[in-house]
Amino acid sequence: MLSEIFIRKEEPIGRINSNIYGHFAEHLGRCIYDGIWVGENSSIENKNGIRSDTIELLSELNMPVLRWPGGCFADDYHWKDGIGPKGDRPRRRNLWWAQGREHQPEESNHFGTDEFIRFCDLIDAEPYLAVNIGSSDPQEAVDWVEYCNYEGDTELTDYRRENTQLEDTDGYNVTYWGVGNENWGCGGRYSPEEYAGAFRRFATYLRGFDRLLGQEPLELVACGHITDNWNQKFLNQLEKAVEWRANSPLALIDHLSVHRYYEAGGNTDFSDEQYYKLFSRAQKVALDVDRAQEAINLFGGSKSVGIIIDEWGVWHPEAVAANGLEQENTIRDALTAACVLNDFNTRADIISMANIAQTVNVLQCLVQTNQDTAWATPTYQVFDLYQEHMDATSIQTSVNTDVKKFESESNDVPIISASSSWKDKEIFTTIVNRHRHQTREVKIDFGIEDISLSSCRVLFNGNKPEEYSTETNAHKFAPEEFDVDEIGKRHCSLQIPASSVVGLSINKA
Ligand code: AHR
Repeated sequence: MLSEIFIRKEEPIGRINSNIYGHFAEHLGRCIYDGIWVGENSSIENKNGIRSDTIELLSELNMPVLRWPGGCFADDYHWKDGIGPKGDRPRRRNLWWAQGREHQPEESNHFGTDEFIRFCDLIDAEPYLAVNIGSSDPQEAVDWVEYCNYEGDTELTDYRRENTQLEDTDGYNVTYWGVGNENWGCGGRYSPEEYAGAFRRFATYLRGFDRLLGQEPLELVACGHITDNWNQKFLNQLEKAVEWRANSPLALIDHLSVHRYYEAGGNTDFSDEQYYKLFSRAQKVALDVDRAQEAINLFGGSKSVGIIIDEWGVWHPEAVAANGLEQENTIRDALTAACVLNDFNTRADIISMANIAQTVNVLQCLVQTNQDTAWATPTYQVFDLYQEHMDATSIQTSVNTDVKKFESESNDVPIISASSSWKDKEIFTTIVNRHRHQTREVKIDFGIEDISLSSCRVLFNGNKPEEYSTETNAHKFAPEEFDVDEIGKRHCSLQIPASSVVGLSINKA
């Protein structure tokens, strides 16, 4: 069966913010402890306590941004517990999650702000911090900003200079600040109206910081939700709360975030129907983005607010609190990530960031570790293949293909998913064949004459979607060179294997 893709460079959608390829790491299970932090005295090779193999793998992804410390953990975290000499840091309960190999519901606080910033520095990612709204006050939030960013001469900034592991002691310059996490749920079970009140209070103090102290502006992220009208009710109430000062509630907000997880069947055990259902449900992420944007549009104004999806991915029923939310990471999961990233690219004009959950060992992770070994998951390979989209211009890409229909799901699944971008005289297209069993012949019309092929690579050719990464097999999921059948003046044809991803670059002669 033939599918067709039409790419139109003269119809740009917008710049693909590289932050769309961002990540999220929480104090949960073996994400931080074991996965990232092993401590300076560990026999596992490390830099300032951060494991070297994880650093090496993540550095290759050019990760743009990393969200921390949670998740639900963020609204029970008191950042001052995690700074200063390790021996003086208090051991606390972790109200939400067991951690490390021993699965203890306790937090050693050995990995705190300075360690996180050092980690970001080592992998060259921008930090994105989530402040505690649910169980704290604006004072603690503003103190955290002062500790991180202020260049002046105060008790907190002196303390940072004492503690920092960076050579430049002038401040961490953290731009992105999440005002709470899932405050409709674990972050305090606020109604949208109540959260508007809390957000206004925290955001006013955080905004005051950059205005009065003359620092770089912070970018504040408000927690939205995916249920009907939550975002609208929140913005509506915020509008009432700020009207004495500004006409638009958007004055306090730079980004509105939503979260979406999905599952269908087990992690490695799923029927054909469940295989396709996972793709159907993964498409909801993009629709959540559209709905959040619609809510923003209702409040108009000239200020642009970006949509952030700062937690997304597959959450299988096997991943439970008792095992630190660990699950097998399969090719099926990676294929859904590839499709979601295609959907994000085609919404480059409205999405300012996205953070897949979570970076190491937890949920749809990129890296897994065991003792002194670390390896890449199939989802890591997708992020690696898609790197060329970062900071490129997303361009119109329409797909003519057959569709898997559902009666019980809200979205049917087109078999071919694709997105394209334009940078440095090259068009880069990523194509997913979601068919579980059949190869698809795909003809691509690039819309420009005199093209030549720069590169074509495939992921998961010949693998089964239920295969998952382990310590010994990770090399099986690496990309391979792939041949196109035919390349003409403005088109090419290729046979895309069942459940695989192709990344193809062409340039104009
Ligand atoms: O990622 C795991 C959890 O999922 C996070 O802590 C929370 O924000 C979400 O519900």
